[in-house]
Amino acid sequence: MQRTVIRVHPGMTIGPVDPRIFGGFLEHMGRAVYGGIFEPDSPLADAFGCRTDVLSHLEQLDMSVMRYPGGNFVSGYHWRDGVGPVEQRPTVRELAWNSLEPNTFGTDEFLSLCERMAWTPMMAVNLGTGTPEEAREWVEYCNAPIGTTSSDLRASHGRTDPYRVGLWCLGNEMDGPWQLGHVPAEEYAARAKAAAQLMREVDPAISTVVCGSSTPDLASYLEWDRVVLEQLGEDADFLSVHRYVNNLGGDTPEFLASGRQIDRQIEEADAVCRFVQGRTRSRKRPYLCFDEWNVWYKDFEMDGHGAVAPHLIEEVYNLEDALVVAGFLNSFIRRADVVRIANLAQIVNVIAPLLTRGDDLLVQSIFHPFQMMSARRRGSSLRVVVDGPTYSTRESGEVPFLDVSAIVDDGLLHLFIVNRSTDHPAPLEIDVAAISALTFVDAELLTGPGAKAVNDFGAPPVVSPHAFDDVTSSGAIARTELPPLSFLAASFTMA
Ligand code: AHR
Repeated sequence: MQRTVIRVHPGMTIGPVDPRIFGGFLEHMGRAVYGGIFEPDSPLADAFGCRTDVLSHLEQLDMSVMRYPGGNFVSGYHWRDGVGPVEQRPTVRELAWNSLEPNTFGTDEFLSLCERMAWTPMMAVNLGTGTPEEAREWVEYCNAPIGTTSSDLRASHGRTDPYRVGLWCLGNEMDGPWQLGHVPAEEYAARAKAAAQLMREVDPAISTVVCGSSTPDLASYLEWDRVVLEQLGEDADFLSVHRYVNNLGGDTPEFLASGRQIDRQIEEADAVCRFVQGRTRSRKRPYLCFDEWNVWYKDFEMDGHGAVAPHLIEEVYNLEDALVVAGFLNSFIRRADVVRIANLAQIVNVIAPLLTRGDDLLVQSIFHPFQMMSARRRGSSLRVVVDGPTYSTRESGEVPFLDVSAIVDDGLLHLFIVNRSTDHPAPLEIDVAAISALTFVDAELLTGPGAKAVNDFGAPPVVSPHAFDDVTSSGAIARTELPPLSFLAASFTMA
């Protein structure tokens, strides 16, 4: 393969990388909560009933925000079922995933976990089968000083101080016919506006995330967003965007180019935000909240058959999935000016980087790109020019073999580079303008024995990163070569 030249200029910043793009998502679905994060009977449980092996690995990902409790689950969830003395909480039929919900993990368990993990909580309210008033009362339970019905209820459960939850999603995927309580855009917007206004009556400091299009596959794509944004007006702080990508076609080069579809989706969602802002002459710009994203296509088991914690969508991830995950994060970093929050869906067992089996824990391939990038996330996104060979794809036309993003942080430069080639090493040159010396600090390389390589319980990991130092530099230029199907996270100092 011919050499690719990656050109950056440390002054050409796009915007600060919002740490909240390294968020996660915990839904009451399958074994995400019960048997995943929360398993009081496990020998691995801490004093709060949470699995220490899961938590210690999540700590390595350093997730910033955590979305909860759904997902489709939230559209049938009534938060009062999940508070108060555990033995008095009802077990209820869970409609989104046809499961049984014991409610032994709820608002207080989640919010105290957030405090221990230093996660910023991001709560979704039920606008499917719930009411704006129920949403308002939940904000009161979480955020109001004692002295009102719901905040006194919280205090009676042992928590006097408000939790001060700042981020609230106004429902979930309400554009989808699969959603409990799905309604046309105008009706959802009316519900969401009423909820936002009532919720802000309790706590004017909250930010709201309104449901945008949950997939480009729906006929209402973008038109839904326009209607919702126009009706919500200043009540919408963020527009929710979701995307799951797949390799159902069994075409690895095409799949590895999925990032181009993400770039496009970001542009399209942002275009609607700017269109509505322009038409309404509003000073307020809604930013994007990519609050569900991942690879998901191998396990579509979504029927819990009335069980507690059934095995649902326990996707097994391989090397090519990990490279696509790196590509998602590259897309978010490149559009740091518009993507302000993003949540990997999900965190354990359900389409997740971690899988539990009994007392064992498997670290899946997609764990690694998230960890490698999260560790280098501080700073501002840089404009990157990639000049190198391309290949042809059906969906996205000509696509560069190398997918790149860059972050600058006070004399430090971090580069994230995916080599999408399945069979060729990629020689590359990094050329930084307006500096005299680019000095290599360190790097990690993620690759594996093949696109379909997976890590497995009880076996040594085959998809995991290793330290990489095969980088030479001279003046403001560094050179290296990436193996096929690999991802590099590299750091340099600039002088
Ligand atoms: O993350 C799994 C499901 O995917 C979520 O519940 C839903 O919002 C999306 O369709």
